[in-house]
Amino acid sequence: MRGPHLTDFEVRVLRPEETRELRHRVLWPHKPSAQQCVIDLDETDHATHLGVFAQDDEPWGVSLKRHAGVLVGVCSLFDQPCIRCKVPWEDHEALRLRVMGTLPEVRGLGAGAALIAGASDEVLRRGKTVLWCDAREVAFGFYERLGFDFMNEVYELPDVGPHRTMALVLSSPRN
Ligand SMILES: CC(C)(COP(=O)(O)OP(=O)(O)OC[C@H]1O[C@@H](n2cnc3c(N)ncnc32)[C@H](O)[C@@H]1OP(=O)(O)O)[C@@H](O)C(=O)NCCC(=O)NCCS
Repeated sequence: MRGPHLTDFEVRVLRPEETRELRHRVLWPHKPSAQQCVIDLDETDHATHLGVFAQDDEPWGVSLKRHAGVLVGVCSLFDQPCIRCKVPWEDHEALRLRVMGTLPEVRGLGAGAALIAGASDEVLRRGKTVLWCDAREVAFGFYERLGFDFMNEVYELPDVGPHRTMALVLSSPRN
């Protein structure tokens, strides 16, 4: 059995409304409906919504039946300044990563990494060099694994829990 690989997933740009079901299931199950899983900036010109699609049913020898061609993860990118801490970049050099999640049944197989690769490509395509986020504690290890650094200590967000700001600096085109 070979391990997961980024090419087992395809990342595509989504319309804002295409992110909502997955946001509801993975990030905001407490909200009454998927239609309410929106961010005020979703429809703005600087918003980019990415989806990751499985390319095959059993690409890793793990059963993912019925997932071929199915949306298994989303994230969104916004042109927003970091306000939680002092950062060593200019606002115009960075994009903020938000509402990132993958379906529980595909976790650990590379879908999240494929989304970060797609988000990094978008940062560079727009002539920027930094991708940053306010990370939930459960995702610290994921972002660290992908090269993000911590920018501050832990802070609490009401109803959501402990977070830290994390950033990935892309000084050259991604390999
Ligand atoms: C965090 C999340 C997006 C990761 O997605 P994923 O599809 O499992 O990510 P990948 O499979 O691409 O993982 C990439 C690498 O990170 C590792 N990893 C994934 N989640 C991790 C975690 N929580 N802690 C440590 N390492 C982790 C994987 O093992 C993999 O390592 P490898 O390259 O050695 O194989 C997913 O777990 C999720 O949606 N969680 C719930 C929602 C959430 O917390 N979103 C983040 C909001 S800030």
